[in-house]
Amino acid sequence: MTMDALLMAAGSGTRFGAPLPKQYLPLLGRPVIRHAAEALLREGMVRRILPVVAAGEEARVAALLDGLPIAPPVPGGATRAASVRAGLEALAADPPDLVLVHDAARPVIPAGTIAALRAALASAPGAIPAQPVADTLKRGAHGRIVETVPREGLYRAQTPQGFRFGPLLAAHRAGDDAATDDAALLEAAGLPVALVPGAESNVKITWPEDLARVEAHLAARLV
Ligand code: C5P
Repeated sequence: MTMDALLMAAGSGTRFGAPLPKQYLPLLGRPVIRHAAEALLREGMVRRILPVVAAGEEARVAALLDGLPIAPPVPGGATRAASVRAGLEALAADPPDLVLVHDAARPVIPAGTIAALRAALASAPGAIPAQPVADTLKRGAHGRIVETVPREGLYRAQTPQGFRFGPLLAAHRAGDDAATDDAALLEAAGLPVALVPGAESNVKITWPEDLARVEAHLAARLV
């Protein structure tokens, strides 16, 4: 079974407030996106990585990932789902059996995650790593609590998310550009998506303090 990976880097990272999108910021001497690409390759199961980048960033990203087994980067779209669809269409010329979709802003993939996803894909068309919610959840509006949301059975979805290639491409061709992850498109199509264990070390760099958290995980080898 061949497995390729899409590395999603077409976002502008506006929440972070840094001059560079978060996926290009330095982390222990290497850009965040290079950590993410090396993490995808570490378990030896991914054949090639296709980076999906903002239009005009193709050459810069190819240089940042120099020496790794990458396909030529392709430009993404206005939303994450549109970017993933662009990547899947590019892979469709030589389709893999399985595809991982990973956020370039997630530099840590804990050991065993990709193997667990691959194993789960033997019995489901999709599988994602997810962490049970630990905090008490509130719905709020205008600075006040509206209600407490029961956290039982709630998970935080992480990446890489794994899929059989055909069902994911079909779901994206039929799907909704507002989806913030890929599992949501399979769910909407009525297809089962398995949960495998996620990890706190699998941080999506979103806020400035996230870089320090990830540095601590990497330095302590808690990955
Ligand atoms: O915005 P968010 O944090 O959910 O983005 C998750 C990942 O999706 C990031 O790595 C970002 O670069 C990517 N993305 C994309 N195309 C977009 C928006 C986000 O590839 N239009």
